[in-house]
Amino acid sequence: MKKLVALVLAMIMALSAVSALAEGVKIAFSQIGQESDWRTANTDSINKWVGEHEGWDYIYDDAQQKQENQIKALRNFITQGVDVIVLTCIVDSGWEEVLKEVNEAEIPLILVDRMPDCMDKIEYYAAFGGDFVEEGRRQVAWAGEYLKSIGRGDEEVCVAIMEGTTGSGAQVGRTEGNLLAMEAYPNLKKVAQQSGNFTRAEGQALMESWLKSIDKIDVLIAQNDDMALGAIDAIKAAGKVPGKDIIIVGCDSVKVAFQAIVDGEMNATIECTPLYGPAVVKAIEDLLAGAEGSKDILHPEEGVYDTDGGIDVGGVVSVKAGDVIDERVY
Ligand code: AHR
Repeated sequence: MKKLVALVLAMIMALSAVSALAEGVKIAFSQIGQESDWRTANTDSINKWVGEHEGWDYIYDDAQQKQENQIKALRNFITQGVDVIVLTCIVDSGWEEVLKEVNEAEIPLILVDRMPDCMDKIEYYAAFGGDFVEEGRRQVAWAGEYLKSIGRGDEEVCVAIMEGTTGSGAQVGRTEGNLLAMEAYPNLKKVAQQSGNFTRAEGQALMESWLKSIDKIDVLIAQNDDMALGAIDAIKAAGKVPGKDIIIVGCDSVKVAFQAIVDGEMNATIECTPLYGPAVVKAIEDLLAGAEGSKDILHPEEGVYDTDGGIDVGGVVSVKAGDVIDERVY
């Protein structure tokens, strides 16, 4: 009898602890900044789903592209005694010390989009992000397969790789995937590889300088759509025709990139979804309900979009951007 009473009491205490947490639960999100259309959509998704969730208090911090601001924000969240921290890491390294402080404060951590390189040394409840290596592989595979489809599979083709923010998970992973896929298409010859920092302005400036210093660029692999769009402006200003004189493959699949494809100025974009709001809400609800977390990084299903559709990049076949542009919300 005594045992039964103790068990019931323990259950009541556990349930009331969960509901006390659920009532005034404070969630804090450290975002890296607003460098691209993708990032704006990502911020909007998390701010809407988590920020507008009934009964939750929400703190949002924009680090203005500086890791030191993110570290400061995390320490502030600890001081404020938040209940859950959501984090996107601007770069891979330099997180172990502060994330161990988060662990010591026993604040559950949810990792979104870009992961830290110390995941095996820290505790976290859940992790969601794009498969960056696969996205980079698909970019080059699309170019290789497309060239084959137009009878240029044996022609030596000069490829420029415009990288994202140096040291970020998205840049490191996509570069690995880009270079890996180049090995499978020996006709592709790398003539440039440099960072455009994931912004439209820096993508434009880098393309301007490449067009002055490099004899021939046939294909541009831009690790996000913003840089591809900046490069398109530079190509036009140099009197060349984007999408024809230079084949352009972006990444993200934002609506403006679909429009550039429909307009014939861009050729393809590899999807990387920014819409993590619902997944973060679900993880927080699971956490509050006492469910076990997971060490796996969950990757969403993502597509490939281009002018006509039908290019098989291995594992996925491209879809015509013009057929889906109206459904794209970001
Ligand atoms: O981490 C995701 C990447 O970051 C997106 O591809 C890019 O547009 C953003 O800035």
